[in-house]
Amino acid sequence: MGVNLIVGTQWGDEGKAKLIDYLSGDTDIIVRYQGGANAGHTVEVNGKKYVFHLIPSGVLYPETICVLGGGMVIDPEALFEEIENLESQGISARDRIRIADNAHLLLPYHKLIDIKREEIPNGQVIGTTRRGIGVCYGDKVNRWGIRMGDLLCEDFYRERLPKILSFKSRVLVNVYGEEPIDAAETEKYLRSLAEKLKGFLVNSSYYLNMEIASGKNVLLEGAQGTMLDLDFGTYPYVTSSNPTTGGALTGSGVSFQSLQEVIGITKAYVTRVGEGPFPTEIHGEEAEHLRKVGNEYGSTTGRPRRVGWFDVEVVRHSARINGLTSIALTKLDVLGGYDTIRVAVGYEQEGKRISYFPTYNIGKVTPIYEDFPGWKEDISGVKSFNDLPKNARRFVLSLEKFIGVPVRWISVGPGRDSTIKLK
Ligand code: GDP
Ligand code: IMO
Ligand code: MG
Repeated sequence: MGVNLIVGTQWGDEGKAKLIDYLSGDTDIIVRYQGGANAGHTVEVNGKKYVFHLIPSGVLYPETICVLGGGMVIDPEALFEEIENLESQGISARDRIRIADNAHLLLPYHKLIDIKREEIPNGQVIGTTRRGIGVCYGDKVNRWGIRMGDLLCEDFYRERLPKILSFKSRVLVNVYGEEPIDAAETEKYLRSLAEKLKGFLVNSSYYLNMEIASGKNVLLEGAQGTMLDLDFGTYPYVTSSNPTTGGALTGSGVSFQSLQEVIGITKAYVTRVGEGPFPTEIHGEEAEHLRKVGNEYGSTTGRPRRVGWFDVEVVRHSARINGLTSIALTKLDVLGGYDTIRVAVGYEQEGKRISYFPTYNIGKVTPIYEDFPGWKEDISGVKSFNDLPKNARRFVLSLEKFIGVPVRWISVGPGRDSTIKLK
């Protein structure tokens, strides 16, 4: 098996966690490589629902090692809450969690600034999850960040920390009108965190590459999706990391030579949370219906997700960037009951046909639709491709042809068992 990678191909919430849980039964190590508690990954097992924000979605298998990779921004409060929450349900994760020592620490001031920034009058509203993500990655890029390993260094407390806190205080006071940071309290807090976290820390690229060399199966778990990628998404309405294949390598330290399958998780329609362009978005009652049937409400924030028809150009963009070797098509059951299902098979931009997802003037894109006949049957219990209604099979095969990547799994319900394996 080696190393397989799971990425979201749209704007997140494609059902990545459901597939990760389904596929990670014989995985030894599962690695989250980017993002933070902005992710909301839902797994349903035996009718019980679990939502993970920081811990990899394979944690329900009792032997699986869960790594929080160096590309992540980790809010320790959220992490311990998640660990304790699992423990209260009888699932022990503590001994199986490893944290990359180069991952960044996300602190209360990151969250505060994220919230304040979204509320600036006439400011740029992204519709973030308000989990401090962009602010923490900003500090990382600006080299004002605090890495997990720093917590164990006396030099850090003596030299860098006072400068970081004094700079952050100036920003809080002068830009946002907030109170300055209490430096002594923060140092005390970070020292207590060091005690709590040190047992979890590993040099993840060393650890993972050694484990891979010894024959372990590793699954890299992407959060968000390709269209939220900082470089290839709908900038500036993106997250501040790279959920795509490049980010999986830099965020885990795993060599590209170990990579085998890149599986793109793709919803049978499209959703997006927050602001930003969305060419195939639908509105009004039609949207309300799809949102309700698909239960499209954010797993992290509870916000209603925007919904729209399947967009081939988005998934082709994703196939190119990520080097997808296969696709898992999710939530096909949600499309049951429609007379016609629409699919955007291409775009026109200002009167010209374009065959790629544009980088600018995305709002000026007009999707070209093809209509497919729907099916009335409930397919949530279907176990094999041939047992799907003819129109459902035709829909899947057409998407596969448009995208040019084989569909190897079809998900027809939130549970582990509601999965059809093809080929
Ligand atoms: P992720 O962020 O990509 O892991 O996806 P989320 O967990 O945020 O959202 C996907 C939602 O759809 C969750 O509530 C899942 O339980 C649910 N889900 C996943 N796959 C299917 C499916 O095939 N059919 C249905 N009806 N629900 C699904
Ligand atoms: P999973 O892993 C869907 C969106 C936010 C906002 C933008 C920036 O569950 O698929 P951020 O807080 O990251 O700075 O917000 O990105 N966003 C997501 N949308 N699924 C997610 O994660 C998301 N994580 C962030 O709504 O538009
Ligand atoms: Mg989600």
